[in-house]
Amino acid sequence: MKAIQVKNGIYWVGAIDWRLRNFHGYLTQRGSTYNAYLILDEKNVLIDTVKGYLTTELIERISDIIDPKKIDYVVSNHVEMDHSGAMPAIMKLLPNAKVITSQQGEKEHRLIYKEDWNFQVVKSGDSINIGKRNLNFVMTPMVHWPDNMVTYCPEEKMLFSNDAFGQHIASSERFDNEYPLETIVEEAKKYYANIVLPYSSQVIGVMEIVRKLDLEMICPSHGIIWKEHLNTILENYEKWSSNRTDKKAVIVYDTMWDSTEKIAQVIKEAFEDKGYHYCYYDLKDTHISDIMTQIMEAEYICVGSPTLNKGILPNVAAFLTYLQGLAPKDRKALLFGSYGWAKNNMTVLERYMEESKIEVVYKTNINFIPSKEQLNTIKQEVADII
Ligand code: FEO
Repeated sequence: MKAIQVKNGIYWVGAIDWRLRNFHGYLTQRGSTYNAYLILDEKNVLIDTVKGYLTTELIERISDIIDPKKIDYVVSNHVEMDHSGAMPAIMKLLPNAKVITSQQGEKEHRLIYKEDWNFQVVKSGDSINIGKRNLNFVMTPMVHWPDNMVTYCPEEKMLFSNDAFGQHIASSERFDNEYPLETIVEEAKKYYANIVLPYSSQVIGVMEIVRKLDLEMICPSHGIIWKEHLNTILENYEKWSSNRTDKKAVIVYDTMWDSTEKIAQVIKEAFEDKGYHYCYYDLKDTHISDIMTQIMEAEYICVGSPTLNKGILPNVAAFLTYLQGLAPKDRKALLFGSYGWAKNNMTVLERYMEESKIEVVYKTNINFIPSKEQLNTIKQEVADII
């Protein structure tokens, strides 16, 4: 395995996960990478590692450049196992190396790996000199775990941002001028929607810090390295973290005997007539993580399910559980469905929305099959409230 030079004396030594299709519930159609970086200086530094099963790839790529034993510091920006899984093997190779991490990072390393490595805890404002270069550390808690931090090298104008600005893309290309930009941004958006969204208020703080840095390159821990399109990703992060929505609706449903689908269709038509952008998904066909990407810009979330037993159809329950965890703010909900003899569907849909703190602005629940008149009424009522 070959390392890839990122800048003079700085190498990408990570691993490509061509197999990854599910990242704790998030459909990763394009796979991913775990980006680790090797900096050669008077002190040699490894920034982050890779998922455990790809440890050999990491060690081979480091060995392509130097004997791994010559690494003096391992900077662990984030302890989640996609970035720290190779730590036990790496630390066996270099038992005297210092592990630079946040206070919470040390705690998590000890809880996960039960090892007494030579930790050096850093906080925002701390830096280390490694020779010609310095590495400055900034704590970015909850982007994505409480331990997260980023590492900035002012001499190289490079930010090693870990999860922030990442995308789940497996590719042989490493840089944003080598891969279709539209796809990188779409995957960055999906990554934000499915990983970063609940921590948008923390992202706003991070963006204030990042905007003050002199930057030539952002090196995330997943996917493509940003160097020619820095403003594209920074502007998008500013938009996504602000919770700004467009004139857009996302309509999602599952249906048993087509009644809920008929209602979904007239709700869709109401939005269409009012000039809204909209997305329309039967939850049997579309993965919830792809729907979340569309919800990023949606003012309205419309959710439909018939009653099934004492609740709702399981596809809808899975979507609502996922939505609740990702907690988009300042959205409005329309709830719809059908029932035979028990109206439990609406009770459950409303409960999810209440727990998700999403305001319900409209609801309708039809007994068995909606008539033409009922469908026309629903369409008019929806048109009147949007
Ligand atoms: Fe890529 Fe939070 O780990």
